[in-house]
Amino acid sequence: MRTIVTLPGDGIGKVVLDETIRVLNAAGFEAEYVEGDIGWEFWCNEGNPLPQRTLDLIAEHKISLFGAITSKPKDEAFGELSPDLKEKGLIYSSPIVGLRQHFGLDICLRPCRTYTGNPLNFIRRGPNDCIEEPEVDVAIFRQNTEGLYGGVEWSNPPEQVYDALMTHPKFKSNFGSAPVEDVSVSTRIFTKKYTERIVRAAFEHARKYGYKSVTVCEKPNVIRETSGMMYKMAQQIQKEDFHSIELWNTNIDAQMMWLTKNPENYGVIVAGNMFGDIVSDGFAGLIGGLGFACSAQYNPETGIGVFEPTHGSAPKYADYPVSIVNPIAMVESANMMLDFINEQDLAKKIKKAVADVVTEGKVRTYDMAKMSGRADVVKNGAASTTQMADAIIAKL
Ligand code: IPM
Ligand code: MN
Repeated sequence: MRTIVTLPGDGIGKVVLDETIRVLNAAGFEAEYVEGDIGWEFWCNEGNPLPQRTLDLIAEHKISLFGAITSKPKDEAFGELSPDLKEKGLIYSSPIVGLRQHFGLDICLRPCRTYTGNPLNFIRRGPNDCIEEPEVDVAIFRQNTEGLYGGVEWSNPPEQVYDALMTHPKFKSNFGSAPVEDVSVSTRIFTKKYTERIVRAAFEHARKYGYKSVTVCEKPNVIRETSGMMYKMAQQIQKEDFHSIELWNTNIDAQMMWLTKNPENYGVIVAGNMFGDIVSDGFAGLIGGLGFACSAQYNPETGIGVFEPTHGSAPKYADYPVSIVNPIAMVESANMMLDFINEQDLAKKIKKAVADVVTEGKVRTYDMAKMSGRADVVKNGAASTTQMADAIIAKL
């Protein structure tokens, strides 16, 4: 039997994961689950939110379902560290970013598709003031390990770094007069290998699922070297291997404006790490927000994959006696896992059950019912996390 590593993490991570496993079981997916330690608790007590034993577990079983993580700024994180660890010079860093780096999960796919009947769907004013509800079907490929998330950064950079920066004429003229201790640098490094990999993954997905275009969403007019490299590589890859798919080029800022103007025009979108993060939240907003935003991140060489909803841990909702959060993003992330491990039929079955529940509209979590997320929403007619999972299970 297959073993899946579960990583509940913090806050609402555990409840959405538990409900999702209930759905997987009900659909007939046969697996054994082992839980990995990750998150805030392990930072506070051990000084490491991503312990080695968890990495070992993932390396062994390869496939993992991830709930959610609480991340706090450096100083606040230090404050919550257990007193005996405070002397050790530990610095908090996000365990999800750590997981991506450690296993080289360089491909991140975030699909954003309209669910028919979702009251949270984006609508816009059309001709003669009619209301239009464009159908969004976008697959965002986010480079998941490089760029601004590469972790190569300094405040008050060491002398060698500073000297090297000073050899760049633009650094010298734009920043050379600032005292070195006033300078902070975060690098944005792209490499050909991983840029090519994400761009090719985007084109292959477009071909496999019949999308007519791939859009590189970067900013090559200003960020010439990194964004420019990605766009140039995309042009070459399209010319060599994917002539029947159109290559479009948008700038991240313009894309954020256009995504409410004509979101139905886009198919596959590919971007670097930070812009992929931004554009995927932008499109998620059009299809119901973070309660619907799922993702897959994987390393195509090792076959290691981590599947996670892109919402946070929503700590303020975590202590409600009855959980109110929408589990659909987690369930859909599990569907992406099923696709990844060649259980397409099961994935299809669960996807259809989710779509049926949303379309029918009888069972709606507070976000879908447009309530603000208070503990009394269930009393007022919203479905709880468990009731939503029950409704999905009933449709299987
Ligand atoms: C995401 C999240 C993460 C990111 C955070 C939690 C570090 O926003 O998965 O999109 O920025 O990648
Ligand atoms: Mn994000």
